[in-house]
Amino acid sequence: MDEKLQKLAAVLKRDSVSVTFFVGAGISTSCGIPDFRSPKTGLYSNLKKLNLPYPEAVFDIDYFRKSPKAFYTLADELYPGKFVPSKFHYFVRLCQDKKKLKRCYTQNIDTLERIAGVRDEYVVEAHGSFAKNHCIDCDWEMETSELKRQMKSQIPTCAKCKGYVKPDIVFFGEALPAKFFDLWDEDSSSKTDLAIVAGTSLAVYPFAGLPAEVSTKATRVLINREKCGDFERNPRKSDVLLLESCDLVVEKLVQLLGWEKELDSLVKEGERALKENALYVHPTEKDLEEKVKKEAEAIAKVEREEEKKENQQIDELTETLQNIKVKD
Ligand code: OAD
Repeated sequence: MDEKLQKLAAVLKRDSVSVTFFVGAGISTSCGIPDFRSPKTGLYSNLKKLNLPYPEAVFDIDYFRKSPKAFYTLADELYPGKFVPSKFHYFVRLCQDKKKLKRCYTQNIDTLERIAGVRDEYVVEAHGSFAKNHCIDCDWEMETSELKRQMKSQIPTCAKCKGYVKPDIVFFGEALPAKFFDLWDEDSSSKTDLAIVAGTSLAVYPFAGLPAEVSTKATRVLINREKCGDFERNPRKSDVLLLESCDLVVEKLVQLLGWEKELDSLVKEGERALKENALYVHPTEKDLEEKVKKEAEAIAKVEREEEKKENQQIDELTETLQNIKVKD
């Protein structure tokens, strides 16, 4: 592995290098979140208590329509806010800080890329996230605080049509977000030097098909406990296979790159934030737009009130002056 890592480090050290990540549940297992398909520890082998017809039914939209309880039993366990990013997540963040990150395509719904500080323009949550919630019938949006409140005692229900509400994570039978298709259209036809695929069994399409579409000019790297997908079926001569734990590979890589101190301080920052219950999530573009709109509305309100006050003062002054004139 050392020789392969040195080769990888040499490419990463280049100033203009452009890196695209394709990641899955394996980058979050060290944070305490189980992956899906690992035998024994994976989520799908531990769902007996939910009495499902087949394990994936827990994320199936038709099954949810009939029996939403199974998903909500699990949602409570998986809900973001309790987990800190892994070294691998912070490595993606470091690539961003060093202007080497082109994009991070993730199948994960834990938002740990954002918590690690990867900005909205770089993250593509192909399977959605817990950031927003909508009614499955009329698309009405429910505030997250309300969803969490209702989750404690019932299945969250739409205030308008009484349909079930679920977080915007993509279920089997639902479309992937437009951002996924739009950005992949753009990214697959522009330059990437390194395509790093990590912590995924490449079992769920269309995501699983992306590594096969990466330009042959790019070097593909697989960091995973096992060989999978296109790396197994159609290997390329230039592929680099690092069949190890994601965090271990990152530990060794940052040593070769001289990034250890920066990685350490990010990891410590995350641990501190969790202790202080202050995990910061980078806002989405829509959140930022809403924030700017609200701020503009607040400023306009203050300006209207000030104008009203000024007009009142002018009226009072005019009246006083007229009274003085009348007396004269
Ligand atoms: P999987 O559980 O299918 O695959 C995780 C992969 O990561 C496996 O190959 C593991 O061997 C590997 N792995 C686990 N821990 C690791 C570690 N610490 N270091 C290196 N490798 C590790 O998870 P995904 O591929 O992400 O979709 O699953 C894809 C989709 O299937 C999910 O997004 C989810 C699921 O059904 C939906 O819910 C729509």
